[in-house]
Order: sequence, then structure tokens, then C-alpha cells
Amino acid sequence: MKKIYIKTWGCQMNENDSFIIKRTLKKKLQCTYVNNSKKANILILNTCSIREKAQEKLFHQLGRWKKIKKKNSKIIIAVGGCVANQEGKKIYKRAPYIDIIFGTQTIHLLPKMIEEKKNTKKILVDAKLKGMQKFNIIFTPKYTHYKTYVTITEGCNKKCSFCVVPTTRGKEISRPYKDILFEIKNMVRQNIREVTLLGQNVNSYLYIDKNSNNICNFQELLYKISKIEEIKRIRFITSHPKDFNNKIIDSYKKIPKLVNFLHLPIQSGSDKILKLMKRGYTVKRYKKIITNILKARPNMQISSDFIIGFPGETEKDFNRTMKIISEINFDNSFSFIYSKRPNTIASKLIDNTTLQEKKHRLHKVQKQIFYQSMQWNRRIIGTTQNILVHGTYKKNKKKLIGTTDSNRIVRFYGCDSEIGKIVSVKINGMKKKYFYGNIKK
Ligand code: SAH
Ligand code: F3S
Repeated sequence: MKKIYIKTWGCQMNENDSFIIKRTLKKKLQCTYVNNSKKANILILNTCSIREKAQEKLFHQLGRWKKIKKKNSKIIIAVGGCVANQEGKKIYKRAPYIDIIFGTQTIHLLPKMIEEKKNTKKILVDAKLKGMQKFNIIFTPKYTHYKTYVTITEGCNKKCSFCVVPTTRGKEISRPYKDILFEIKNMVRQNIREVTLLGQNVNSYLYIDKNSNNICNFQELLYKISKIEEIKRIRFITSHPKDFNNKIIDSYKKIPKLVNFLHLPIQSGSDKILKLMKRGYTVKRYKKIITNILKARPNMQISSDFIIGFPGETEKDFNRTMKIISEINFDNSFSFIYSKRPNTIASKLIDNTTLQEKKHRLHKVQKQIFYQSMQWNRRIIGTTQNILVHGTYKKNKKKLIGTTDSNRIVRFYGCDSEIGKIVSVKINGMKKKYFYGNIKK
């Protein structure tokens, strides 16, 4: 019996890829999954290369697995994900004890590669960009929860000067909407009620059906998904401000199932830096989008990504980022210090801000957003929120546990029959990280 251990780094896309890997392996091989790498005979690492140290982190991890393999040479080590796409066989040169290298778009070939490995001592490598093939194996697992991810696009056609994604995930491809709908309908049969649509720029989704010449863009896809009755909530991540057009904003008026929460990365509050980043919008344009979104949905909570200490970011530029953070009143953020990535345009820019200064700036950003998030928490108390009920609270079975549109956790008294449904809950207060309230009938 194959005992598999999977370690996943990085974004939701990688998490979803690992989920597909698990499903595919389960279907194609006789295997079980273990939570402890020492108990496994197949070790799989799904890597991320968005920021520096990814390579170092990878070789540290492989070093640990090398020790496990020393005790049992039959163990198979497979490395995949964005670092595998970026570095390919070079990983093997530094870690010759690994067996398989697979890429972000060859995860579906992993069962075959594992089988093949039995008959060869050679390293097996396939990290080519093969588009959407990995989604061809559609079969729906049993879900133990009510929400899941659905990938709608792969890759990216933008050329942000700091980013490696276009090289590791290739050109943007949109999945056929029929496949997406088919997959969601299957998920619904397994009790899924909330979907998060995934892609680097979901809002540039565009699929042209070659048979019927039907064109489906992002807002049309949202409408189609919202028609699936059992789906109660729709999220998406990530959107790009450049493609966030008025039609998409309009869907907030027309599709109540879209959550009151949007992740729309601005990256910086300085037009000079946005230009150097090649983001394709100005701060003014970003603010205009938010104003229009708030017109459609006054209660919308917004979150963003920030890159701090981009080459050329002066104190003045940074202060502009601080200004936009409070102006938009972001509820949340993923903020990181700029990391120089191989073969990117930004890697050639002069960067003379010290690391110490960058750390100081990052700390300021995170402190401000934490403060704003706390304010949002306070603002939620006393309001009525839509809660997707995920199950009972382990410590008190009479209580239910669920999440708000902005993914805040709420506990409240209620019956098991509410599990998997959206209920209205009046939020009465907050204890540690959790909210509590009463169901409104
Ligand atoms: N497509 C998405 C983002 C994908 S990458 C978008 O356009 O917003 C996720 C986040 O990682 C980015 O938003 C950015 O904030 C961060 N990131 C990407 N490359 C980075 C780098 N070289 N250094 C620091 N952060 C980076
Ligand atoms: Fe990266 Fe920019 Fe695309 S951040 S994923 S190149 S939109």
C-alpha cells in the first residue's frame, strides 16, 4: 500500500492543485494519506516561488527528507509547483536523491510517473506547460465541509515587473464554462454551498465556445454560477484593478450571492511605483473602482496585497501607500517586502533602500491594517450578518459555527438542521477571535 505525504506551500491555487493531486492519486493508485512524513513511502512537495528564499526553503525541506530516504531507499520523493517550473532539472542536480519533478500543469501525470518510477532508477521530469489538461480528470470527492475552490483560469498575461507567475504558470487560459458549471453541479451534490473561483486575474476570464461561438466573460460566468440554486455564496480571488470594469461592478447589484468582501490588490499607493511595477492603473482609477463598488454595495469590505520597499520607493511614495490604506479603510491585507525574482524586469532596477528601513515600513503597514481590521470587527458587532453554517462547535454541541462574508467566525445556538445553510445572525459581541450572536428567525 502506498502511503503518501503531501506538503503544500503558497497560494490558494497551489492548495487547490494539491487537492487535485490527492484526488487523482486516490483514483489511480491504491493509496492512503498520512500526516507524518516519517510514516510515508511517497513524499510530495508542492512548492511556491513568489518570493525569495523559496529555493532555500525547498533544499532545507529536501535535506530533511533525504534523511528519511537514507533509512529506506524505496521512498519516492516528488517535487512540483512553481519552483519546479522555474528550476526544472536543476533541483535534481543539487538534490540527486529526488525521483520525480512535475510542474504546475502536469499534476495529472503524477500517478503515471509514480508507477513508472518502480521500473527505473532515472529521475523523471515533466514540468512543461500543458494548459488545462490537468482539469480533464473530473471526479468529485466527498467533501467534509461546505465550501471549496474552483479554478477558472490558469496563468497570467500581465507583465507586472516584479512577478514570476507568468513564467511558472504560463499564458492565461480560461477553462470552458461548461466544465466549470459541470464541476460545481457535481460539488453541490456533495453538499458544497460556497465556491471560491480561483485564478491569477479571475476578472479577465474569457471563454469562446468554438462550436457555438458563444462568448462567456467573467460577469456572465458569475451569473451562470449564481443560477445553481444550491450555491449560496460566491467568492473569487484574485482580481486585477485594470480589468475590474463596470459590468463586473454591476454584478454586485444583480447577484446577491456575491459576498460583501473583495480582495483587490493595489500593491502601492504611489503612481510612480505603480508605473514601475507595470500595473496599468493609477491610484485615482483604483479609488474610482472602489467608489463605484461601494455605490453598488455600501457594506463591502475590501482587502489588498501590498509590496513594500519596491525599488525606488522613497519615504514620500511609502507615505502615499499609508494614505491609501486609511482612505480605502482596508479590512485585511497580504503585505510583504519586495523580493527580487530571477528574470523579472524589476530585478534590474536600482534598489537602495536598506532592509532595515523596508522592515520598518512593512511593520507600519501591518500595524495600520491590524488596527483597521479591529475597527471593522467593532463595526460588525450589533449588525445582522449572513452566516454559512459549517457545523457544530466542538466544545458545546448545542452551538453552531459559521462564517460571515468576510470570513469571520461566529458561534451561536441553533439546530443541526441549519448546517450547510445561510442563516441571519445578529452579532452580539466578540470573545478572543470569535464572534457570538443569535439566529434571527
Ligand atoms: N495576480 C494577482 C497576484 C498574484 S501574486 C494580482 O494581480 O494581484 C500574489 C501577491 O504576491 C501579489 O499580489 C504581490 O503582492 C505578491 N508578490 C508577487 N511577486 C512579489 C515579489 N517579487 N515580491 C514581493 N511580493 C510579491
Ligand atoms: Fe503576477 Fe501581475 Fe499576473 S502580480 S500573477 S503578473 S497580474
